Order: sequence, then structure tokens, then C-alpha cells
Amino acid sequence: MRWNIALKAVLGLRRCGHCATVRSRRRRRNRCECLWQCRARHRIYRGAAGARPRGLCRLCQTGKRAVSIPVIGVGRIEPENADRHIAEGDFDFLAMGRKLLADPDLPNKLVGNHAGAIRPCIYCYSCVSQIFINQPMMCAVNSSTGREHEGDILASTARPQRVLVIGGGPGGMEAARILTERGHQVALWEKDKDLVGTARIAALAYEPNGRLIQYLQQEMRRLPIALETGKQASAVTIAQYRADHVIVATGALRRAPDITGKEQRHVFDVDELRGILLGTDTRAAAKLSPLARMAVSIARFSQALRSIKLLRFASRIWMPIADEVVIIGGGLVGLELAEFLVERGRKITVIEPGTALGAELAIVRRARVLHELREHGVRTLNRAAVKEIRSDAVVYAHKGELQDVPAKQVIIAMGAEGDASMTDQLVDLPATIHRVGDCRDVGYIDGAIADARRISQLI
Ligand SMILES: Cc1cc2nc3c(=O)[nH]c(=O)nc-3n(C[C@H](O)[C@H](O)[C@H](O)COP(=O)(O)OP(=O)(O)OC[C@H]3O[C@@H](n4cnc5c(N)ncnc54)[C@H](O)[C@@H]3O)c2cc1C
Ligand SMILES: Cc1cc2nc3c(=O)[nH]c(=O)nc-3n(C[C@H](O)[C@H](O)[C@H](O)COP(=O)(O)O)c2cc1C
Ligand code: SF4
Repeated sequence: MRWNIALKAVLGLRRCGHCATVRSRRRRRNRCECLWQCRARHRIYRGAAGARPRGLCRLCQTGKRAVSIPVIGVGRIEPENADRHIAEGDFDFLAMGRKLLADPDLPNKLVGNHAGAIRPCIYCYSCVSQIFINQPMMCAVNSSTGREHEGDILASTARPQRVLVIGGGPGGMEAARILTERGHQVALWEKDKDLVGTARIAALAYEPNGRLIQYLQQEMRRLPIALETGKQASAVTIAQYRADHVIVATGALRRAPDITGKEQRHVFDVDELRGILLGTDTRAAAKLSPLARMAVSIARFSQALRSIKLLRFASRIWMPIADEVVIIGGGLVGLELAEFLVERGRKITVIEPGTALGAELAIVRRARVLHELREHGVRTLNRAAVKEIRSDAVVYAHKGELQDVPAKQVIIAMGAEGDASMTDQLVDLPATIHRVGDCRDVGYIDGAIADARRISQLI
């Protein structure tokens, strides 16, 4: 257990990404001051103004003081904050871009007092990135955006069907939502005691994802869906249900690549990491020190690990992650984890065997994440083939040379692939079987949401 990190977090001290000393969270004129060792002053990188929540508000205030005409505020301003800014005279109107792509009914929902039913933007930059690759408009959380010409997918069906959805991640929940809105009779089975699937750790790593899963969970409760959590589907129970359609949305299969040393106690794959952070995997927790195991058990029994908000807060104080971590795999998952961990004072190296880091990320988000990681002092390597994980280091080949990087813990964030194991067992069923989301092909949240729309249109 890293008590030194916990203590520093409580005292408001964080490791400086630049000089590896500990820095105070107190900021002066956008700079931090390293304590103790180097006493250097580093600029704190806070991201482009338009990318930060309310990042342009100060500019609006300045503009408002300087001109006599109305000022319109923009840039990641949530409606409830906009009300306050308008009341305080910071600007006169709010213009919304991304929030309306995510939910064009947002103004009507606000007027109708249904703010909780607004589908939130997760600030993934997929929409903006389309421009750079000359592709039509899209939205990761609302796959009707840019496809309005294909017709209204929520039109009621003339032939209500009995549909069973297996898996309560974003793909399963979105399919259940659309099909129920269309008038089908929908049941959803989720094996965990909570909905949301892998998106739970995605929300831990990147906070805006949490708003989407909160919205989907609310929709599951609002709509007449026969929801059963803690229910693991099998070929037998699915057959007994006698559905007309079965939607399998059971998520990706994760197989960490064969790397010498991966079986050691300080090496975790993403599923194990998810299991220990969320307290859902006692086998993975067995790899931790007795003290860390005890802390995780207490948190699990107190039910604290079920709240992502609480978990994000608590993870700033303590989590069972060492202070020097190597992440193998520089895709979306590896980079998200790197960002999450470096913000919590860990020293991180990301090793990617492929040519590009974050290759599957939307172009704008990729640029932003890579820039922020570098600004935070994360070391990133591409074209680096991992040869061995030792007890205190990871050995890799880079530019024809064998090198190593110290590691107290190693996270393998590679090896996710589609999973046909469930659908293979259902071939003889007298129902139509569909695969949605990561279990069809790893396509992340936007892929799962788009799949759900496509399948729901067919039924
Ligand atoms: C650290 C991390 C960060 C990420 N960050 C992002 C991000 O920023 N943006 C993004 O787009 N994606 C991100 N992802 C990926 C994203 O979370 C997944 O791609 C997405 O959740 C896939 O949705 P899904 O519905 O297909 O599957 P899942 O979310 O994996 O859900 C599958 C569900 O099926 C359930 N299930 C499985 N088998 C059964 C069974 N037999 N019976 C009943 N239920 C069953 C599982 O318990 C699970 O709840 C991240 C992933 C990780 C690990
Ligand atoms: C798909 C898309 C394309 C955009 N293109 C431009 C652009 O070319 N030039 C520009 O100044 N702003 C552009 N913006 C920013 C918007 O003009 C607007 O300021 C911003 O999206 C409002 O903030 P919000 O999206 O957080 O509500 C774009 C936004 C989106 C969503
Ligand atoms: S694509 Fe992403 S950033 Fe753009 S509106 Fe949709 S959720 Fe928001």
C-alpha cells in the first residue's frame, strides 16, 4: 500500500510530472511550485480553453465588460451553470454545439422540466474529428445524428416482438432503450449486480463517460424493461425464455498477449485492474498485499465501490496502485488509464508495440490526450516490443536495442477482441440472434451505441 502517496494526497501534494519531485496543489498564476528538491516553477497545463469545462467563461466576462452589445457564451457550459453565469451577468445567451448533437431535444427537455432525461455529451471529440477526415457528421452517444434522413428509429412498431438483451453495458442498455421506445417487449439480463459493464471503469478513467452511463441507467429504470441484474445468462436459460430475438451484448474477450513474466503478482490485465478497483474480482485482489486486500475488502463491503463519483474521489487519496507503473498497450484503454493514474500522482510509462499511440482514438481527442500526457510527464514509447516483465522492470526492444524501464506494477492494456462464445451456443435456438457492441467487434462506446441503433432498426 502506498501510504506515502495517500499522505501526500491528503496534504494536497502531488508528484510533479516534470522533475519527479512532489508539488503543491496550490497554484500561483497558473504555475505550481515544486517543494523540497528542485523548487522549480512549472507551468501547469490545463488544456485548451474550449476543451475545459467552462474554459471560455472568463473570456466572456472580459468581453461583456468591454462591449455594450449582447455576449453569447460557448464551450462546454452545462445548462445549469449557464443559468448562473447569465444571472451573474457574465454573458447574455448560451450557444450549445456538442450538447445539441448529443441530444437535439435538450431545450424541450429543459422547458418540460426533464433535465435528467437529457442524453449527455461525453466530450469525446468524435464529431469534430470527422471534419479532419472529410466524413459526415456523427455523434458517439447519439447515432441518429447525421442520419436523420434514414427516418425516425423511434417510430412505433406494428409487430411488437419479445426481445431478450444479454449484457447491461452501453450496447445492451441502448438496444433495450430504443426497442422499448419502439413498443417491443424487452427484458435485459446483466450478470453483475450493477448495470453499465466495462463503461464503469471507462467512467472512472474519464469522468464525462459517467454521465452517459448515468443517463442510460435512468432510462432503464424509467422505461418498462424487465430488468434483472445479478443474472448470468446461459444457453439453457436463454432458450427457456422463448424470445423472438436475442441481443447478445456481452462485451469483449480480453486475452493478454503471451509475455514472459505476465503471471507475476505485480502484473494485471485490464479485467483484473477493473476487478480490484471496483472490488468485483476477489481472485485478482489476491495478488495485492494483505493490507491493500483488506482496504479493498472494507470498501467493497461498505458498498462504496459501487459509486463511481465516490470512487473517483477516493482514488485521489488511495488506491492499490504502485507509484511507478508501466502500461503495456498505448491504445485508447492504455492512454485513458495513463491519464487517470498520472493525475493521481503515479509515474507512468506507456509502451506500445505498434507504430502509433491511440490509433483508434478520434483525431482531435488523440491529439489532446497525447499532448496532455506529455505535459503531465508521462513517458510514451511506440514501436517498442516488450520482451519480458521482470520483478522490478519491463524489458523492451526499441530501435534495435534492448532497454528496460523500472516498474513496481505493470498493466497489460492489450488483447481485446470480439467474443462469439455466447452466440455460438445459440445457433439452434428458434430465435433471431444478434451481436451488439464489443462482443461483435471492439468499437468502444460509440461502436456499441451505433450497433444498438442498427439492430433496433431491423427488429
Ligand atoms: C480503462 C478503460 C477506459 C475506457 N475508456 C473509454 C472511453 O473513454 N471511450 C470509449 O468509447 N470507450 C472506452 N472504453 C471501452 C468501453 O468501456 C467499451 O468499449 C464499452 O463499454 C463496450 O460496451 P458493450 O456494451 O459492448 O460491452 P460492456 O460494456 O463490456 O458490457 C458487457 C456486459 O455484459 C455483461 N455480461 C457478460 N456476459 C454475460 C452473461 N452471460 N449474462 C449476463 N450478462 C453478461 C457484463 O457483465 C457487462 O456488464 C474503455 C475501457 C476501459 C477498460
Ligand atoms: C462538429 C463541430 C465543428 C466545429 N467547427 C468549428 C470551426 O470550424 N470553427 C470554430 O471556431 N468552432 C468550431 N466548433 C466550435 C463551435 O463553434 C462552438 O463554439 C462550440 O462547439 C460550443 O461549445 P459546446 O460544443 O461545448 O457547446 C465546432 C464544433 C463542433 C461540435
Ligand atoms: S461525438 Fe462526442 S463530443 Fe461530439 S457531441 Fe457526441 S458525445 Fe459530444
